[in-house]
Amino acid sequence: MKLATRAAVPADAGQMCDLINRLIGLGGGTAHRRAFDARRMRRHYLRPDTLICCTIADEAGAVLGFQALVWPSVGPGFDLFDPGWAIIASFTRAGHQGRGIGRAMFAATLKRARAAGVRTIDASISGRNTAGLAYYHAMGFVDFATRDGSDSMGEPLRQIRKRYDLTGAHAGLVLPRPSRKPLSDDGLPVALAAPVSQVLNRR
Ligand SMILES: CC(C)(COP(=O)(O)OP(=O)(O)OC[C@H]1O[C@@H](n2cnc3c(N)ncnc32)[C@H](O)[C@@H]1OP(=O)(O)O)[C@@H](O)C(=O)NCCC(=O)NCCS
Repeated sequence: MKLATRAAVPADAGQMCDLINRLIGLGGGTAHRRAFDARRMRRHYLRPDTLICCTIADEAGAVLGFQALVWPSVGPGFDLFDPGWAIIASFTRAGHQGRGIGRAMFAATLKRARAAGVRTIDASISGRNTAGLAYYHAMGFVDFATRDGSDSMGEPLRQIRKRYDLTGAHAGLVLPRPSRKPLSDDGLPVALAAPVSQVLNRR
């Protein structure tokens, strides 16, 4: 069955919860530690006030992935963002990763980002999340900072901040595709600059 991307609708909330809750159960793929219910999903990814777009990867009615792009909220932890920055989060259903779903969702998100006037997209990923780091690298994101924060249960978490510039010198930068070999856990992939100490992920 053919995979399609489309905008998320409220009726997707249940499948989105199931998808992310399985990833939370597996661990390592998201800083979220608390299971989502439909209400929290709507508030957080589906219809937050700051929403630019929430893209669904749909195969015959099955939600196989979702990717949210939001403007930064106002408040602690969000003063790291200049005007025109947006924040991305991506999730592919366990068992369906590595099929190009993430790539398809980012193509759709990029179109919406351009239409909304986004200048730079921020992806902040746990340094231990090798798949997440490799995915955003493959999409053309480049590392620019780290920040030490905590996950949603208050556990320390070092994140790698990656950026994708839609305008300016780095716009449309095409990087070679990395191999699917996992990156080493401690040997972070590229030189990192500008460490920032900040409590993050208050979501
Ligand atoms: C990160 C994630 C969204 C990627 O989604 P995906 O549907 O598996 O990605 P794709 O199959 O479209 O892969 C796109 C490219 O990313 C890279 N990539 C993705 N997963 C990778 C992995 N485990 N190892 C190495 N490279 C990887 C590859 O270059 C791939 O290109 P290729 O298919 O030509 O090899 C998915 O692994 C996921 O949901 N992880 C858990 C949640 C998470 O970590 N989200 C990111 C933080 S918000």
